[in-house]
Amino acid sequence: MKITNIQKVTELRTSLKAIFLFSFLTLAPSYFSQGEGLFKAKCATCHAVFKNGTGPKLYEARKRWDDAGEGELIYEWVRNNAALRASGKSSRANEIFQEYKGSVMSVFADLTDDQITSIFDWVDAQDPNAQAAGGPNIAAVSGVEMEEEKGLPWIWIVMGVMFSIIIMAVGGVRRQLKIATKESDEDSEGLTYVEEFKTWAWKYRLYVGLTTLVLVLSLVVGFFQTLYSINLMESYQPSQPIAFPHDVHAGVNGIDCKYCHNSVTKSKSAGLPTVNVCMNCHKKIDGEGKEYQGEINKIYAAAGWDPSRGPSGEYTNETKPIVWNKVHNLPDHVYFNHSQHVVVGGLDCKQCHGDMAKLKELAKVQPHQELNKIQENIDSKIEFDRATMTMGWCIQCHEQSSINITDGKSGYYAEIHNRLKENDYNLLNQYNEDGRVSVKELGGWECSKCHY
Ligand code: HEC
Ligand code: HEC
Ligand code: HEC
Ligand code: HEC
Ligand code: HEC
Ligand code: HEC
Repeated sequence: MKITNIQKVTELRTSLKAIFLFSFLTLAPSYFSQGEGLFKAKCATCHAVFKNGTGPKLYEARKRWDDAGEGELIYEWVRNNAALRASGKSSRANEIFQEYKGSVMSVFADLTDDQITSIFDWVDAQDPNAQAAGGPNIAAVSGVEMEEEKGLPWIWIVMGVMFSIIIMAVGGVRRQLKIATKESDEDSEGLTYVEEFKTWAWKYRLYVGLTTLVLVLSLVVGFFQTLYSINLMESYQPSQPIAFPHDVHAGVNGIDCKYCHNSVTKSKSAGLPTVNVCMNCHKKIDGEGKEYQGEINKIYAAAGWDPSRGPSGEYTNETKPIVWNKVHNLPDHVYFNHSQHVVVGGLDCKQCHGDMAKLKELAKVQPHQELNKIQENIDSKIEFDRATMTMGWCIQCHEQSSINITDGKSGYYAEIHNRLKENDYNLLNQYNEDGRVSVKELGGWECSKCHY
């Protein structure tokens, strides 16, 4: 049988398709999970999908704004609700703000229309019936139990598909090899696989060359994609609207981190303080005559406070939100939860953020060399050689961190411990073999714990 040109072209097309499918699948999931990721990263601390909490339920929020004839303004609301309220353009904005008096929504100035749409698309695609039937409450504020019931993580789907493609491709090549070598020379029987393949590759060198080129190109693209998404930003220092010094507050004045980052023990994100928190102290500490008075005046401008009015200052009601720049940001497909680490894991902020009480520069997760100098890490025998904010860093700590599952400080471990004691004494002993139980042994290396 002769292989026709048509057949060759079909063959080539199949390979190309496989390659495109491959590249698409490797890149696509981050797109599809965008809405969900954004919701969890930015909104879930205050909003649930179906239940009112700190903020109203977001299910069909878009519809509510449409019904009020203000469908377009919802984007402005999400980006800067205070500005929208101040503009007087929207009655829905003022209505909902009145209803939730006392709670103020954060500002998300950097969200694009597409990103906001993706959040609402994802929210509205959730199934209210599943919820009523006791389905997973995606936005449970605690977040700790949140990931437990997650289904197949996308990474396995991608790997499964890739694997099948490779199997199919190899199968196809084998078949072609058979056909090709049979009709070219009969005595190819004694050839090894490699020689067989070489003959075949030479015969169809044009197509093999092209396919290789495309393959190499997609690998290069993939490689750079990966590079860009890696957080090699250890020295990234954006400028902030107010030169807020951590050393003065947390260091010299010994203010507890949780005073300002008060959601750190309760939720996924640590949160940034509102201007009202600053005003608790800075109404009095006005910096008059000091070189930093300009910075304090910025707080006053944001809070709408005029220190020259009245006997000791008055609110003018002209507020403008402080838009802090986020110093670092994990990719959307990674789930990191503060309360899990600080409360359940009992870690000190220092172990990841370094000693901020002495820090002159902007606060952040400090480079691993700095973290290795922190006493708590030395005491816990944690030593990093992976750059912080990378997957290697998380995983290394999960291997090195021991958990005291019997100290009873956390109900979470007490329960695991009891369950093991009753049901699986061998496993408990196995965990304890090296005299300690690591986070890894309790599932801290499972992909789905960290990846959506
Ligand atoms: C710090 C808490 C907080 C965060 C974070 C937050 N919100 Fe809100 N949101 C609120 C509160 C509180 C309200 C009620 C209005 C008010 O008091 O300002 C609200 C109201 C809303 C409304 C109006 C709902 C309605 O029924 O009209 C929408 C829409 C909304 N938020 C979307 C979002 C989105 C999208 C995000 C994430 C990008 C987000 N919010 C993040 C607290 C928050
Ligand atoms: C302890 C948490 C943790 C676990 C467990 C974990 N990852 Fe990750 N992973 C991360 C973090 C954090 C990043 C982002 C790193 C970055 O931005 O450089 C990441 C990034 C990735 C990336 C790269 C995506 C990109 O942005 O370039 C892939 C692929 C990946 N993980 C796959 C896996 C697989 C497969 C497993 C299970 C074997 C796994 N991860 C387990 C935390 C984890
Ligand atoms: C008086 C209030 C206050 C106290 C106390 C405080 N912080 Fe902050 N923190 C802020 C403000 C305001 C910002 C935003 C400005 C900035 O990035 O410096 C911030 C930012 C941060 C950031 C970076 C946020 C980002 O965008 O990624 C980290 C990390 C941080 N703080 C950790 C801590 C730790 C750890 C402590 C305790 C040692 C602490 N903070 C104590 C007010 C405070
Ligand atoms: C618990 C009280 C407290 C809170 C809350 C607080 N500060 Fe301060 N702040 C202080 C004290 C005390 C000083 C030091 C005053 C001095 O040394 O003269 C200070 C100093 C400052 C300075 C000048 C520091 C310098 O030396 O350059 C700035 C800027 C500042 N604070 C900003 C903020 C901002 C922004 C917030 C809100 C995120 C905030 N502070 C919240 C107590 C507080
Ligand atoms: C296990 C490591 C770890 C510990 C412990 C830890 N953090 Fe963080 N922190 C991080 C990571 C990682 C990020 C970046 C999260 C992101 O970008 O989503 C972060 C971000 C932050 C931010 C920026 C705002 C946010 O919520 O993303 C603040 C503020 C912060 N941490 C404060 C604290 C405080 C206060 C403590 C102690 C009570 C603490 N952190 C303990 C790892 C840690
Ligand atoms: C300083 C050490 C340390 C670092 C760094 C660290 N973790 Fe953890 N992590 C812990 C400890 C300790 C626990 C145990 C708490 C628990 O089991 O709930 C934990 C638990 C977790 C869990 C829950 C695991 C489970 O079995 O339920 C997740 C998810 C997680 N970490 C994600 C991350 C991610 C993502 C990063 C990197 C961005 C990270 N961690 C970095 C120490 C660390």
